[in-house]
Amino acid sequence: MNQTSVPSFTLNNGVEIPALGLGVFQTPPAETVQAVTAALEVGYRHIDTAAAYGNEREVGQAVRSSGLAREEVFIETKVWVSDYGYDQALHAFEKSVAKLGVDYLDLMILHQPLASMFDRTIGAYRALEKLYADGRLRAIGVSNFTVADLANLAEHTGIVPAVNQVELHPYSQRKPLQQRHAQLGILTQAWSPIGGITFYPGYTNGETDARRSTLEDPVLNQIGAAHHKSAAQVMLRWHLQQGRSAIPKSVNPSRIAQNLAIFDFELNHDELARIDALDTAHSTWNASAETDQRYVQYQIPEA
Ligand code: A2P
Repeated sequence: MNQTSVPSFTLNNGVEIPALGLGVFQTPPAETVQAVTAALEVGYRHIDTAAAYGNEREVGQAVRSSGLAREEVFIETKVWVSDYGYDQALHAFEKSVAKLGVDYLDLMILHQPLASMFDRTIGAYRALEKLYADGRLRAIGVSNFTVADLANLAEHTGIVPAVNQVELHPYSQRKPLQQRHAQLGILTQAWSPIGGITFYPGYTNGETDARRSTLEDPVLNQIGAAHHKSAAQVMLRWHLQQGRSAIPKSVNPSRIAQNLAIFDFELNHDELARIDALDTAHSTWNASAETDQRYVQYQIPEA
């Protein structure tokens, strides 16, 4: 099978990360091995999982049976909030590497801030710093952090996160946050990069804007038609050209392959500007002390 070679971005510590990876959020464990296997076969070399997704074991299984050397695949996972605190997060790392069947990770990030229990968030990040110093992690970062969360973190820790993984698609572009990342040298990593979240029932992107699904967006489809590409491919190319890491999720082999076929066309300045203009500045992400309490109840099983 012909494999696509994926370009890389360089993180703030010099480590290279493939520009596009496979996301396995909401991929049931039973479908994870085939999805990751299909991705590695067509040329993906970056898999983004999380302790809370419950599929680390299957990600590891697929990577091992691919025949690829460990260092050829960039493995990223996340510490769940019930494992925050210094000692707990050190143990969370041990759980994740045991489930993945590896002895180091390319990138480990905090799944989301616990703004109402930030001391535990700091403790967990300090554990990542220790694991990084010990060579168990090649890079460390965060996810779903706001500008304020990043400032709080910087006051109490020493290493600037290599990435902040946040909801980011044409209807939710997080422009102030992206500017802050650029100032700090943090790579913006997009979750729901093709707006998967916008097809979920109940998603609302503001009273003045009735659009629901990014995939049906007329502008994205017009641009796609001009390049013989889908709306999903246009969105992924837009991320790439604007320097963002993207981790589209799919369990379908043809969509997994389609999402990687974005290195043979280029969006022009006008097309990029038309996509930029689709922003609603609305994010589905909104945590609170109440949701923090709920999230910490969910425990990550031992390996
Ligand atoms: P499936 O897994 O059945 O392919 P996001 O990563 O932005 O949240 O998007 C994930 C969602 O988009 C999933 O529902 C996934 O479904 C679907 N999806 C992934 N790739 C494509 C594609 N190229 N075209 C249409 N839908 C896609």
